[in-house]
Amino acid sequence: MALLLLADPSEEKLRSYLPASRCFVASCNGGVVGACVIQPLGSSAHELMCVAVDPAHQRSGYGHALLKHVVDLFRESGARTLQVGTGSFGYQLAFYQRHGFRVTGIDRDFFIDNYPEPLFEDGIQLFDMLRLTLAILPK
Ligand SMILES: CC(C)(COP(=O)(O)OP(=O)(O)OC[C@H]1O[C@@H](n2cnc3c(N)ncnc32)[C@H](O)[C@@H]1OP(=O)(O)O)[C@@H](O)C(=O)NCCC(=O)NCCS
Repeated sequence: MALLLLADPSEEKLRSYLPASRCFVASCNGGVVGACVIQPLGSSAHELMCVAVDPAHQRSGYGHALLKHVVDLFRESGARTLQVGTGSFGYQLAFYQRHGFRVTGIDRDFFIDNYPEPLFEDGIQLFDMLRLTLAILPK
């Protein structure tokens, strides 16, 4: 939970989508260093609800490996899209775009309407959520 809260600061929201989701973890020397949670949206669409890597292990490739693993796994099971919601600025946006995600929508004021406290990234308040979609092409 401590790891997942790095990506989604609302434990209440996290607990609301965990039961219907699958959780994947990255481990190093027997310890969990990264995790991501994926919720099905239908037979061929899924949503990445959160992804997080322990700060001591960030920038070491775990986030990339986790994302690649789930995309490959869902591709084999017939999935065609993976969606994610993220802030409208910050390195997370570049992280997803490097994996081929494209902007497909904007939820204005999402971070104000859905969280009790203001959220900040790099000292800038987050207001709007960008909806990103990755088209999963069959191999
Ligand atoms: C986003 C996150 C999961 C990425 O995991 P990671 O293991 O650190 O990522 P990787 O090592 O696979 O990095 C892949 C690339 O993403 C980019 N990136 C990752 N973290 C970055 C950072 N802090 N600043 C700038 N670029 C970053 C880089 O381009 C990096 O490649 P590079 O190191 O060769 O330049 C991780 O930083 C994290 O847990 N952040 C806090 C939680 C969070 O914000 N989750 C996303 C919610 S939308």
